[in-house]
Amino acid sequence: MSEITRKNGRYWEAMAGHRRGETVEHLRSGGEVISPEELAVIGPVAGRRFLQVAASVGDAALSVALQGAQAVAVDIAPSHVATGRAKAAELGVEVDFRVGDMTALPEDLTGFDTIYISWGGLCWVPDLPVWVADMATRLSPGGRLVIAEHHPVWEVLSVAGPDLLALSASYFEQTWIGERDLAKEPQVVKELGLEWQPHRAFVWNLGDVISAFLRAGLVVVALQEFGDREMYPGFAHGQHLPSTYIAAGERPKCD
Ligand SMILES: C[S@@+](CC[C@H](N)C(=O)[O-])C[C@H]1O[C@@H](n2cnc3c(N)ncnc32)[C@H](O)[C@@H]1O
Repeated sequence: MSEITRKNGRYWEAMAGHRRGETVEHLRSGGEVISPEELAVIGPVAGRRFLQVAASVGDAALSVALQGAQAVAVDIAPSHVATGRAKAAELGVEVDFRVGDMTALPEDLTGFDTIYISWGGLCWVPDLPVWVADMATRLSPGGRLVIAEHHPVWEVLSVAGPDLLALSASYFEQTWIGERDLAKEPQVVKELGLEWQPHRAFVWNLGDVISAFLRAGLVVVALQEFGDREMYPGFAHGQHLPSTYIAAGERPKCD
């Protein structure tokens, strides 16, 4: 494991015990975890093999398992995985929860119909082309790598006033330009005021994502951008900017 990933793992474990995700009741009643737009890209899940990486407490894996998928959830923070296992037991559903590094997955995690990463997961991948190439080998033919993430434009912009945005990072290089925007820290950090732990996240722009798919031999089957003005709180024009995106690459049925 790289030193960066080891530090990031410590950062996450420091707050993982406080992070619960959706309630068991929400999951049991079929409450939304994966958006309709993501589900449209993922396709039917019943009887399919689904891997969620950087899964936190594995809510997406739990939700597809409740719909009949064979689900695996991997996260680097042991306390997240423990919470996920407890939720699975309460729900009476089977999910194979593993503590692990998504950049060094064990060999047996292969043959998936969907590999899914979402909402603050991709920024912990230090080398995107290498990681996507590895995920591509773990898909079954016709399987899809589905990324549902914060938009890189949102990642690099900070609200500085109702009519003013500041740049906190480069869209093109892995460099911070201004102060790291506290609004981008995990919710639990803001709520608990936890002590700052060294960590290092990465901004992967849309060109990086699509190029990594193509280099890994995946066919691009989805690239959608969405706006959400609430992700630019205090800025008067947030509806005109991208906030999130979904990208998916499919392993060809015949390689
Ligand atoms: C913002 S959370 C993801 C949230 C999750 N997608 C959700 O919607 O609940 C980021 C997660 O990535 C995990 N993580 C960071 N680096 C990782 C790595 N190298 N391998 C596996 N998990 C990692 C952290 O422990 C944390 O649970």
